[in-house]
Amino acid sequence: MSPPRDLRASLAQAGYTPGRRDVAPLVALLVDDPDAGPAVRRALARADASVVAAAIVSALDGAAEASAARLVPALGDAAATATAARVALLAGLDDARPRLRRAAVTALGKLGGDEARAALCAYWDRPDLPADHRRAAAEALGKVGGDQAALRLAATPADGGGDAELVRRRDRAILIALRDADDAPSEVALDVAPATPMVMVARCRAGLETVLAGELHDAGLAVDRLGPGLVGVILAGPLAPLLAARTLLTAGVVVELDRDADADAIAQALARPEVQGLLTAWTRGPVRWRLDFERGGHRRALVWAAAARTRALAPALRNQPRATTWDVVVTADQRHLELRPHRFTDTRFAWRVADVPAASHPTIAAALARVAGAHAGEQVWDPFCGSGAELCERGQLGAAQLHGTDRDQRALVAARANLDAAGLDATLVCGDALEHVPPPLDLIITNPPLGRRLRGDAAALLERFAARVPGLLARHGRLVWITPAHERTGAVLRRGGLGLRFARDLDLGGYEARLERWQR
Ligand SMILES: C[S@@+](CC[C@H](N)C(=O)[O-])C[C@H]1O[C@@H](n2cnc3c(N)ncnc32)[C@H](O)[C@@H]1O
Repeated sequence: MSPPRDLRASLAQAGYTPGRRDVAPLVALLVDDPDAGPAVRRALARADASVVAAAIVSALDGAAEASAARLVPALGDAAATATAARVALLAGLDDARPRLRRAAVTALGKLGGDEARAALCAYWDRPDLPADHRRAAAEALGKVGGDQAALRLAATPADGGGDAELVRRRDRAILIALRDADDAPSEVALDVAPATPMVMVARCRAGLETVLAGELHDAGLAVDRLGPGLVGVILAGPLAPLLAARTLLTAGVVVELDRDADADAIAQALARPEVQGLLTAWTRGPVRWRLDFERGGHRRALVWAAAARTRALAPALRNQPRATTWDVVVTADQRHLELRPHRFTDTRFAWRVADVPAASHPTIAAALARVAGAHAGEQVWDPFCGSGAELCERGQLGAAQLHGTDRDQRALVAARANLDAAGLDATLVCGDALEHVPPPLDLIITNPPLGRRLRGDAAALLERFAARVPGLLARHGRLVWITPAHERTGAVLRRGGLGLRFARDLDLGGYEARLERWQR
């Protein structure tokens, strides 16, 4: 049957959803034209699955081997919802055409579920499977996962009977099968002290190192050294005090590698008794980990090889990227691992229940609040308050009269929700920062529009705002803010009689701005 011309035109349209009458001609096209495969399969996946199943089952009958095998992936797609397709797929494992059988194995692995697992285990148990079927079945067993699948994979001879490709697929499948076999809860224990003091790296936005170091010091931790975006800490007790630092982004235990990070070096480091001991002591439930790279990128081959080697040396450590408890990060110098807690209870920013597109990162809001300091009962205004992050963070430091303005009503709804969640009272007004008249102020704290999203000239807006500041502040009043144009805004503030007391250049994700504290 040659397909109508307009069917090919429909296939070329994105989002084409075939009607009932188009299904059989599409299946015929799949039989006749290998090149049409991907487009036809995409289209069939959008059609009624039971109609697709019926058309494929009828076309399979009598189709040549190669064409029949081409139909099976589409049958597998339909099997997710149509029983007839599932039944046909399972029957495919007993078909006389070997390529169809192999395609059914692959499709069942993708489909998953108990029925597919049982059928694939039985298929795996057949003696004398051709090598390409054994490999496909190994991969499929890995995908369906579960103890039964993992047991079978693990029982194959280590050298795969001389089939290197089978060994590669089997090892990968074992990791996947085990990864998905267990769903016991697991999280980092924040209240357990390490056996010996640990060197840790606490990370923050570049520019906030001294602020973070101050917070860590106040939490009773021994601060070791500072570097760009990081503070070294010696931790002799539990992890919990680290979370007193509100500018902290991540914290990790540093483990030295004995050579550049390859799969063996990573596995050997993780398998060291003191490292395994620490991970076990600091985890409630199974220790799950995933490999990551400070420099970014996926490096899949290294990830797989490191997972396989680690499993061999330290089976208690489970490489389970999707449910990880620990991120194991290869540092940029390739000579260290950083073991970063991934799954733990962090209530620092529990106030954050609502968001706006330009919301401050909470650690930035926390930095502004810390740099501002707190005097009991003072009058505080955020003229560009958005979702209220700075007001919430200032409120955490002690009682104050909080005022916020924003010209966007939706932002004020978000701010109200966040302040309520923080248990804070505040006066919120929809208004322009250049016109609103607040009471005499002890503190103006704000992360204003920096020009990334604002149409128009953010620097000009902030210069005009800066010109208002001296007239709004009480004696000794402070302005703590982030400015993207510190020379221009600084000149205005100085002219108004304010003195600069603190300044740090911040990296706001590839965008430079300066955090400042001015005083009247
Ligand atoms: C960077 S966002 C503030 C983010 C805020 N700190 C938060 O955490 O959500 C800047 C805010 O300034 C507001 N805005 C811009 N121009 C304004 C103006 N002239 N007066 C008042 N608000 C303004 C925007 O609506 C936006 O919500």
